[in-house]
Amino acid sequence: MPFPVIAPIRTARLLIRPIVASDLADLMAVNGDPHTTRYLPYAHWQSLDDAAAWLKRMDALAAAGTAQQYVLERASDTKVVGTMLLFKFDEGSARVELGYVLGHSHWRQGLMREAIQAMCVHTFAAGVRRIEAEVNPLNEASCALLSQIGFVYEGTLRRRWVTKGVAHDTRVFGLLADDDVTPTLPA
Ligand SMILES: CC(C)(COP(=O)(O)OP(=O)(O)OC[C@H]1O[C@@H](n2cnc3c(N)ncnc32)[C@H](O)[C@@H]1OP(=O)(O)O)[C@@H](O)C(=O)NCCC(=O)NCCS
Repeated sequence: MPFPVIAPIRTARLLIRPIVASDLADLMAVNGDPHTTRYLPYAHWQSLDDAAAWLKRMDALAAAGTAQQYVLERASDTKVVGTMLLFKFDEGSARVELGYVLGHSHWRQGLMREAIQAMCVHTFAAGVRRIEAEVNPLNEASCALLSQIGFVYEGTLRRRWVTKGVAHDTRVFGLLADDDVTPTLPA
């Protein structure tokens, strides 16, 4: 199967849609915060030039057919409050990796759980068999979030990533389309 085409998704509080260049201004508040990017592989953005360089990298991945960058747009006022990435798509195995970031001022309101659950439902519906995520063990919020949704912790890869000059272990989480806990959308 080619890269799964996911049409824009509406949840109770969000519109999840492919990124466009005009989203970068809102995203400065998300990726411009070093607290938010602490466990991410890239440094926080210091300018719109950094943002544009990041988007260029995302566009290149999309052009290669292995990734799609989405944004989380708040339904109440259309402000973009976060991002979600499907990447490292493996066609033969119908497998894709998930990445996600939410602006600090929006944490702990259940927004990312809402977004990931919806994205998983639609990604599986598009034919993907397995969704996985790699998380720094120090990132307690992300590990707890995935576990709450039903992702299974499958093991730790030792010092897999060098980010910001430091080698980190990586926890691998996986969710299968036929896992009993696979999320469903609210009626
Ligand atoms: C990880 C992140 C996406 C969580 O988003 P969020 O919208 O705040 O998470 P939610 O409110 O949906 O939380 C759902 C569940 O995750 C767990 N959780 C979320 N944040 C947590 C925290 N700081 N500590 C412990 N558990 C946490 C809880 O179980 C929570 O359920 P509860 O609130 O009912 O207890 C957000 O903290 C973030 O963007 N961090 C920076 C970027 C990042 O690390 N991305 C992931 C890279 S792998």
